[in-house]
Amino acid sequence: MKVLVIGSGGREHALVWKIRQSPLVTKIYCAPGNAGIGEIAELVPIKPNDFDSLIKFVKDNKIDFTVVGPEQPLIDGVVDEFEAVGLKIFGPSKSAAEIEGSKTFAKEFMVGNNIPTANFKSFSIENRFEAERYINETPVPIVVKADGLAAGKGVTICETKDAALDILDALFTKKILGTAGEKIVIEDFMTGEELSILTITDGTDFVILPPAQDYKKILDGDLGKNTGGMGAYAPTPFADESILDEIKRTIIEPTIYGMKKEGRPFKGCLYFGLMLTETGPRVVEYNCRFGDPETQVVLPLIETDLVELMLASINNKIGTIELRIKPISTVCVVMSSRGYPDSYEVGKPITGFDKISDNVLIFHSGTIFENDAIVTAGGRVLGITALGNSYDFEETIHSAYRVVEKITFDGAYYRSDIGKKALSR
Ligand code: GLY
Repeated sequence: MKVLVIGSGGREHALVWKIRQSPLVTKIYCAPGNAGIGEIAELVPIKPNDFDSLIKFVKDNKIDFTVVGPEQPLIDGVVDEFEAVGLKIFGPSKSAAEIEGSKTFAKEFMVGNNIPTANFKSFSIENRFEAERYINETPVPIVVKADGLAAGKGVTICETKDAALDILDALFTKKILGTAGEKIVIEDFMTGEELSILTITDGTDFVILPPAQDYKKILDGDLGKNTGGMGAYAPTPFADESILDEIKRTIIEPTIYGMKKEGRPFKGCLYFGLMLTETGPRVVEYNCRFGDPETQVVLPLIETDLVELMLASINNKIGTIELRIKPISTVCVVMSSRGYPDSYEVGKPITGFDKISDNVLIFHSGTIFENDAIVTAGGRVLGITALGNSYDFEETIHSAYRVVEKITFDGAYYRSDIGKKALSR
């Protein structure tokens, strides 16, 4: 089979790496990809939002199926457009992708289907006065979320009412996030351990991939600004069988069943961002695609052929799949550009790739090949992913950092505490 992967980050590098292991696959293309992906797949210079060119490329090259990495093309309906011309594609339809595309839809869906989540109210720019009154009447901390996609900048945790009123002003008056911030959700702040669960579903049946934990903040100790994710590890030792069973019963089943009941069956990878609160697991957010960097730590744990899994999702056969998991641990440390998640410089040559050890994978997030060298091209640059021989996270963490210390580029930054939460369990 020939496969096209759409996207250019660490998640897509991990997807291409795993898809390449399938005996069913003879050729992989990636549009547009990055320098690391270019070492294992043929890069195609088409942007993920250029659906006409993607469809033409797939037809001209007789590609058997396409896998979509990022959320934006899914939310914009890439799956519907491919299917309308008879092409196979892994991912949710536009109406199902709204589960990530609109926070208001997601929250109302959860309430309608009794899925545990934080209490909330939604407001639009027209009822700003009610939003202000709600903020003044609600105890802090509270969380203000832009309704639409905001590249990781849509969620603000407000410790004071003034901070919440300021962000309301920034969204509704200054329109810092454009139309994505013209509707908002204000919700209670939840505390507990965060957990990311990726599922592969055909709209009815599903498989649950090993649970992971993401490190969203830029600084050690979970301080500073939110990022796309500075590292991850899997499987999370604190998500034991009874917690996973509760998550399955109270969250995953009602979500997949609820989406089907609403006439928007979700096919593809459905990501559950969860908080394990004192009163049980609750949904923080849904994503309509694989998580980044969670994918980098979850896919190496899977023994089952990912292509078989994806085809089973497309062909409504997930019920026939037996998921096999490797008994190992994984840790991914993200190396980013100085300044990220705010502004940063690009074009810095990266060295040290020759010092990699066997049990460490380097997934590229933001790199390009320029003048015979690999140079930085994004905020998140590389995901150094160590595969442990067992569940001994101490050794896996060391393996990852040993390689991180050997890779250099001007302004390289990374957190030094990735995976440590697994050690305290
Ligand atoms: N790591 C969180 C996300 O992929 O959205």
